[in-house]
Amino acid sequence: MSVTIDGKSLAAKLRGELKEKVSRFAAEKGEIGLAVVLVGEDPASQVYVRNKIKACEEAGIRSFSYHLPAESRQADVEALVGELAASEKVDGILVQLPLPKHLDERKILALIPAEKDVDGFCAENVGNLAMHRETIVACTPFGVMKMLEAYGIDPKGKRAVVLGRSNIVGKPMAMLLVNADATVTVCHSKTSGLKEVCAQADILVVAIGRAKFVTADMVKQGAVVIDVGMDRDENGKLCGDVDFENVKEKASYITPVPGGVGPMTITMLLYNTYIAAIRRRS
Ligand code: GUN
Repeated sequence: MSVTIDGKSLAAKLRGELKEKVSRFAAEKGEIGLAVVLVGEDPASQVYVRNKIKACEEAGIRSFSYHLPAESRQADVEALVGELAASEKVDGILVQLPLPKHLDERKILALIPAEKDVDGFCAENVGNLAMHRETIVACTPFGVMKMLEAYGIDPKGKRAVVLGRSNIVGKPMAMLLVNADATVTVCHSKTSGLKEVCAQADILVVAIGRAKFVTADMVKQGAVVIDVGMDRDENGKLCGDVDFENVKEKASYITPVPGGVGPMTITMLLYNTYIAAIRRRS
């Protein structure tokens, strides 16, 4: 049997603390602002963006929300991001991904100044993470590290396996774990002997985007299992990348879906926005 890591409660606690800090900052220096840009009608993105805006309001951070049509031209999206980059009211800019296929994502994200890049996606912020002088760190992996810390799980000396190599989760997650003195392996869909590699992990972070992909035979007895997935099972029910019911019998700690990593991701976005405001305005 395992301990279920309660991301929802931890997120609520951290957001409560943050709300007080935001309020103190605002009283002295003025409101903190986050601009959120959504292009198109992707249903999942719409839900994520709505949740981010709601969380901002609850934390006392002002949100500026922009919803552009799916057929927007590259120049229009670039013009908006350029305006937000120059705006004194905006401390952080988040362009929700994925963008519609016809848009050049790289060019659009490049218009976000590093100091307003609250997603931690730009080359400067990623480079700083790689060099272990973290500035702004991608929200989901940052949230995972906070969860480990809160539960007294120190990655130092542990064998960590990250399943997934995306720029948003897998790669920054691996760097954070290396920086925390873990021995890290990054796996993906083309890794040979994937099951065996996963089964060696003391800490297994799964971000492969396939419902219940990680089964109990891929997990070492007593492993810490972190599920970043947000999928639907065969009945359309929300689930993660890990077969929770079976894996929980083997793991020492495990995150549920929902109520695990998800709430922490948004919490770290709020935190990154607060940090960006402090840096920009001090
Ligand atoms: N799409 C999925 N996750 C994220 C995220 O963390 N940030 C942004 N901007 N888009 C996403």
